[in-house]
Amino acid sequence: MKKFYIKTFGCQMNVNDSEKIAGILRDLGYEKAGSPEEADVIIVNTCSVRAKPDNKAYSFIGNLKRIKKEKPDTIIAVGGCVPQKEKKSILRFEHVDLVFGTFNFMKIDELIERARKERVVEVLNSKIREEDRVPLIDSYLENVCVAYVTVQRGCNRFCTYCIVPFTRGRERSVKPELVVQEVKRLAERGVKEVHLLGQNVDFYNYEGTDLADLLYMVSEVEGIERIRFTTSHPCGFSRKIVEAMRDIEKVCPYVHLPPQSGSNRILEKMNRGYTKEEYIEKVMMLKEEVPEVALSGDFIVGFPTETVEDFEETLSLVETCVFDQGFVFEYSPRPFTKASTFKDDVPKEEKNRRLQELQNLLKTQAEEKNRKRLGKVEEVLVEGWSPKGKELSGRTRDNKLVVFDGDESLIGEFVDIEITETSPFFLKGKVLERVESILARKG
Ligand code: SAH
Ligand code: SF4
Ligand code: F3S
Repeated sequence: MKKFYIKTFGCQMNVNDSEKIAGILRDLGYEKAGSPEEADVIIVNTCSVRAKPDNKAYSFIGNLKRIKKEKPDTIIAVGGCVPQKEKKSILRFEHVDLVFGTFNFMKIDELIERARKERVVEVLNSKIREEDRVPLIDSYLENVCVAYVTVQRGCNRFCTYCIVPFTRGRERSVKPELVVQEVKRLAERGVKEVHLLGQNVDFYNYEGTDLADLLYMVSEVEGIERIRFTTSHPCGFSRKIVEAMRDIEKVCPYVHLPPQSGSNRILEKMNRGYTKEEYIEKVMMLKEEVPEVALSGDFIVGFPTETVEDFEETLSLVETCVFDQGFVFEYSPRPFTKASTFKDDVPKEEKNRRLQELQNLLKTQAEEKNRKRLGKVEEVLVEGWSPKGKELSGRTRDNKLVVFDGDESLIGEFVDIEITETSPFFLKGKVLERVESILARKG
């Protein structure tokens, strides 16, 4: 039997695209390989949002040369965000047989067949309308109970630092009926929690059906007990969405709402479209309507011209909003973006100092929030073994990672867990009982 190996870099969107690629290959009779060495087809799904993932992908691809030399029949394919915009950076690797973009992964089967005969480079532009067919591909799921459903692709916002609008094209939403159909199919396979994905999921709009409407539609699907959505954009995150979160039992109290900066001058230079005050106002509205909500966000430090005073505005935004989780990135100039024409004038050491300081603040906030869970009983959906493989892990409704002792039979089940230990990044606990259905218990 033929085997495939997929290495994925980047965001959940890429992870979901890889799952769909795996679904196509599985339908053709391929089996998953445990390592690249064992595979007949190796696929690298790349990310170019910052220089770091870019470089990681290059070194992974570079290392595949050895495999190609030992087993020349192996097909090496590279797709995703890097080739979508910079084919040349991949073409220089002579051992790569197939280069494809973010708009044509659905045809991976045909592309692989062609690549067995000659080198294939196929990167489509964003004019193609792929949205009505992508959801029909059955994903190959690693996780038995949690699945991603891409509902919106692309981005029209052009934040000045960001390459995504160039690698993913214009914003387009998946037909709601197709989303529901996909969620139903996942529920039939035992999935209990779905994550609706979009680069700017709040801007989901299909002929007038918006994200709040879609949440209501998806919540009707029997068997699905938890719904999450990500990533939110402060401009699109509306009162209507917040009310849907408040009113739909299945929608989990967790929002990833990246502020990026707390300085109005920097926010404007980033073309984010909101002020610090507007961001805070949205968060306060959210916390008022959904008091148990957990908040997470992304931050960029060291954007061109960012002063210590600007950075202090970011710290003050964090102090006011209080986050459960935060991801901090040092600004990294990306090709094609407007900010790449600005002088990258904050020294590397200063970027790193700001990163540490902001991370420390976020860590303290997370630690304090998590400490309040000590002794509490949490509803956890058990996802699988923790990375070390000794304990089980799962998440609370508000997306906190919980690890605990237990056996295989709990995977895919809801359990009540008493929290016995906390840290900034996860909770530890012990299983009290198995819960058949969270909703049935409440209902
Ligand atoms: N669509 C989402 C996320 C896009 S990329 C949003 O609008 O927020 C994920 C994160 O990477 C961003 O939130 C941002 O914090 C970070 N990022 C994007 N481009 C970057 C760059 N050039 N340098 C540093 N961080 C960047
Ligand atoms: Fe990038 Fe901004 Fe679009 Fe997010 S909203 S994907 S940060 S351009
Ligand atoms: Fe990276 Fe592309 Fe996602 S650039 S963050 S994989 S959209």
